[in-house]
Amino acid sequence: MTENITQRLARAHASIRERVGASCEIAVQLGSGLGHLADLVTDPVIVPYGEIDGFPVSTAPGHAGQLVIGDLFGVRSVVMQGRLHLYEGWQPRDIALAVYLLNRLGADTLVVTNAAGGLNQDYAAGDVMLVDDHLNFTGESPLIGPNDDAIGLRFPDQSRLYDPALRELALSAAARAGVELRRGIYCGIKGPELETSAERHFFRMAGGDAVGMSTVMEVIAANHIGMRVLGLSAVANGATGGPDQQVDTVETVAAGAAISGRKIEAMLRELFPTFRSHKS
Ligand code: HPA
Repeated sequence: MTENITQRLARAHASIRERVGASCEIAVQLGSGLGHLADLVTDPVIVPYGEIDGFPVSTAPGHAGQLVIGDLFGVRSVVMQGRLHLYEGWQPRDIALAVYLLNRLGADTLVVTNAAGGLNQDYAAGDVMLVDDHLNFTGESPLIGPNDDAIGLRFPDQSRLYDPALRELALSAAARAGVELRRGIYCGIKGPELETSAERHFFRMAGGDAVGMSTVMEVIAANHIGMRVLGLSAVANGATGGPDQQVDTVETVAAGAAISGRKIEAMLRELFPTFRSHKS
């Protein structure tokens, strides 16, 4: 019989539990070009994905593929340096497994960062967008298949995927850090190809402000297991699909994400000490 998600989770957790040690409060998923944030973790315990029993191993360029566990801005955190993308061929369930594991390590809050293209004409490369909500254009869900009621509901509500209280905290933290935050809707696509100009126009008409190839699977899984989520997009490139649309390369996207990444770091430094666990 094939193993179900709960059995896979238990096996993954058992393989690293002792190495990880004390419970974590916050989980952080680092997007493309933002991996350096993991270097700020003090006295880190590093667990390469390959050493986690049954865990998927990331292959995307710029994604190291390891858990970094320790203090980040004074809060015990588990950082996923290198995320899993659908375009690499991972199944939505694999991506959910990673998020469930972060929760098993104690994290009740997930901070998701990503690199994205700006659909909104008012956005510039180097901006940071606070994700208010998302549009899932992947055609996938990490919850398809048998549901384990011990993890979450069969039909989970999606009306507050991005925790309203965390968004308020993030806005205050950004203001203290002198970072101007955009707010908007993230469109998740599968990739790996970027969108056509026609698709970008369509996503914009649908209400999207930024578009990227990650995040939606993780956030659905995190909500399923009862984690609070904060989403931040590094607007790496303009993606309006207009007549002046530039041609994007991995290099231009990485350069834009690096500028946003410094702003994200400054605001998280302010934000983390204000997090309060919602477990108690
Ligand atoms: N489209 C999709 N994903 C992205 C983009 C984009 O323009 N930029 C960075 N990630």
